[in-house]
Amino acid sequence: MFNRTLYSLEKKKELCQYARKFGGKIFHGNSLDLITKLKDKKMALGLIDGNHNAKIVRREISFFLKRLSIGGIIFLHDTYRNASLLLKDRAKADPEIINSKKWVGDTYTVRQRLEGMKDIQTFTWPYTAMNCGLTMVMKLDPDRSYYEK
Ligand SMILES: C[S@@+](CC[C@H](N)C(=O)[O-])C[C@H]1O[C@@H](n2cnc3c(N)ncnc32)[C@H](O)[C@@H]1O
Repeated sequence: MFNRTLYSLEKKKELCQYARKFGGKIFHGNSLDLITKLKDKKMALGLIDGNHNAKIVRREISFFLKRLSIGGIIFLHDTYRNASLLLKDRAKADPEIINSKKWVGDTYTVRQRLEGMKDIQTFTWPYTAMNCGLTMVMKLDPDRSYYEK
């Protein structure tokens, strides 16, 4: 009924094999270079869980929000502030943690910014997704009354 394609953007070549299991189109490289390949696409559902630097996440989400359908959803991982603060504290004694898979960066600041936007609805599960927080972002319909939250 729906004509849909799954796209996956991944920096590490060896990890692209996981995305391959689900079919779709896999792009290998840096997300900010690759998203331009999707500039003409509309998006219904997405997950952002790559680089956890807020400056990068902000650019990723802003790109995808422009292309998100009304009622479409983006999930954003690592949005729980306490997880971020805890890891920053641990990094003082163990700086290597910054380069590890555990590092959640400052993605929570992006979530805080999204919460203040009137054209989207957010919901965050703080204690899920490895206790790092998962935020659901839905694009609202500007022509419906609930647009005014
Ligand atoms: C925390 S892992 C999450 C992977 C996936 N969500 C999962 O649950 O299996 C982050 C992934 O993003 C990739 N990554 C990090 N920065 C990236 C970037 N700027 N562009 C593309 N991929 C990136 C990493 O190589 C890593 O595989």
